[in-house]
Amino acid sequence: MKVELTVNGERREADVWGGESLLFTLREELALPGSKNACEQGECGSCSVLLDGTLVCACLVLTAQAEGHEIVTVEGLARDGQLHRVQEAFAETGAVQCGFCTPGLVVATAALLERRPDPSDDEIREALSGNLCRCTGYQKIFDAVRAAAAPGTS
Ligand code: FES
Ligand code: FES
Repeated sequence: MKVELTVNGERREADVWGGESLLFTLREELALPGSKNACEQGECGSCSVLLDGTLVCACLVLTAQAEGHEIVTVEGLARDGQLHRVQEAFAETGAVQCGFCTPGLVVATAALLERRPDPSDDEIREALSGNLCRCTGYQKIFDAVRAAAAPGTS
């Protein structure tokens, strides 16, 4: 079936089968491999994207369900060749080791800071609780979120 959706501000069309996940479509059909496939069960958060502004696991969303909706992936956070401040903060604080979890964490952090520009430590923990990292021990990730947070802005 043909599905039309908006991805990172562009109208895109994909020819998918009924059970195809949004993660598969993004990576394999729309040439957007930033969202990672680690568990395909909604457990790790590495595939996190925004669906109409809400954080979702792309592995749990059928592409057919996304028809007519707006998707933002980690690739869509950068603007005009400039990294998003969350992307910069992750790079600068050393929050990236193997990097497999990073796209999902960056999208989840951007979503958090959009609604809570100056989150508390508990709010950060809760917001990122669905994103697993096997490398960093989370402290550097926490530092990155703090570095990207800017009170009073979004
Ligand atoms: S790949 Fe989607 S949550 Fe792990
Ligand atoms: S940096 Fe390797 S899983 Fe997080």
